[in-house]
Amino acid sequence: MKDLFDKIYRDKGPLGKWAEYAEGYFVFPKLEGEISNRMHFNGKEVVTWSINDYLGLANNPEVRKVDAEAALKYGSAYPMGARMMSGHTDLHEQLQNELAAFVKKEAAYVLNFGYQGMVSTIDALVGKDDVIVYDVDAHACIIDGVRLHMGKRFTYKHNDIESLEKNLDRATKMAEQTGGGILVISEGVFGMRGEQGRLKEIAALKKKYNFRFFVDDAHGFGTLGATGAGAGEEQGVQDDIDVYFATFAKSMASTGAFIAGDKEIMDYLKYNLRSQMFAKSLQMQLVVGALKRLDMLRSDKSHKEKLWKIVSALQTGLRDKGFDLGSTQSCVTPVYLKGSIPEAMALVKDLRENHGIFCSIVVYPVIPKGLILLRLIPTASHTLEDVNVTLEAFSAIRERLENGTYKRMAASVMEAMGA
Ligand SMILES: Cc1ncc(COP(=O)(O)O)c(C=O)c1O
Repeated sequence: MKDLFDKIYRDKGPLGKWAEYAEGYFVFPKLEGEISNRMHFNGKEVVTWSINDYLGLANNPEVRKVDAEAALKYGSAYPMGARMMSGHTDLHEQLQNELAAFVKKEAAYVLNFGYQGMVSTIDALVGKDDVIVYDVDAHACIIDGVRLHMGKRFTYKHNDIESLEKNLDRATKMAEQTGGGILVISEGVFGMRGEQGRLKEIAALKKKYNFRFFVDDAHGFGTLGATGAGAGEEQGVQDDIDVYFATFAKSMASTGAFIAGDKEIMDYLKYNLRSQMFAKSLQMQLVVGALKRLDMLRSDKSHKEKLWKIVSALQTGLRDKGFDLGSTQSCVTPVYLKGSIPEAMALVKDLRENHGIFCSIVVYPVIPKGLILLRLIPTASHTLEDVNVTLEAFSAIRERLENGTYKRMAASVMEAMGA
């Protein structure tokens, strides 16, 4: 019989196999200093385009003050226990009420983490007779939530309404046989490529099909819509979203998350979300911090305006220079280039070491072979100077990619890797 660990000694997994060459630089890099437009990497200042602090609240002095005072008052333990047992407070309730009002829903429920919260909301919403229909490009937390489902599930092609309809036809037949219902899941904004989910078209299908609509709006909350209530508000269909989810890990620059919807549904979920019933409640310092951040989202539009000024300068500047940004409709700014993985590594090293630009890099198997995706996240703390420096750097790296410099450098990288 094999030792359970044999496979682990043999194979570190699709990303882990690169650890020896990539760790500390391409993966698990250590960005140091205050969270802002400029941080330090490997001892050098870099313009940081890889942090989802969309509204620049992470280091806002008022926010930091409230965080510090709350930490002093409550410590990091309070309240102890799960919400249902001993971890419930007035302030958790206040935060829920304010979040619900902000996203224009009857009620909300605060989650200690977004990922686990999404997984268990999906788990709690469906039973074995129900059918889930979800976008094939869904975030890992949706995929993992669907994995728990004992019944049928269908994926539809990314943002493809025809494919969604086909799968709704199949799901309807299936649900009629089992006696269950249908849950459709989309993201409000797809975080890798920046496209908004086609919420309006999906919501319109409610006239033809009987389903409930669940939207993960991690990247839309705070950044889209007239009041910042997200992609549903932006597309005018917030009322058609039956369960709305957003995390505090992006616009709110914190930890935690929430779901919102009709009161009866939230009441059900608060008694059935296993990730909340059997895990510690969100700490009070984070609850107090979330109330402060929400107040800023609500009362001070300048952060969102500043964010969009930077988004527009960056995206227009890149497009004017002929870069391919795919079909982003949000702050997420993907830049698609053609090249191999070793070329991508040489290019990113050049960007960081010689141009002082730090952004995330995505390669095969997340995107098709032969493509390099550089993903930039503009925030309200960036400046137009940061944008200009970045535009110049991108022109320079494109030239080197096209004239074969990185290919030559890549050959030596491959040799060093023994590949
Ligand atoms: C689309 C999406 N959903 C859910 C999550 C998980 O949220 P959290 O970081 O709060 O666990 C993320 C990442 O933060 C995300 O991008």
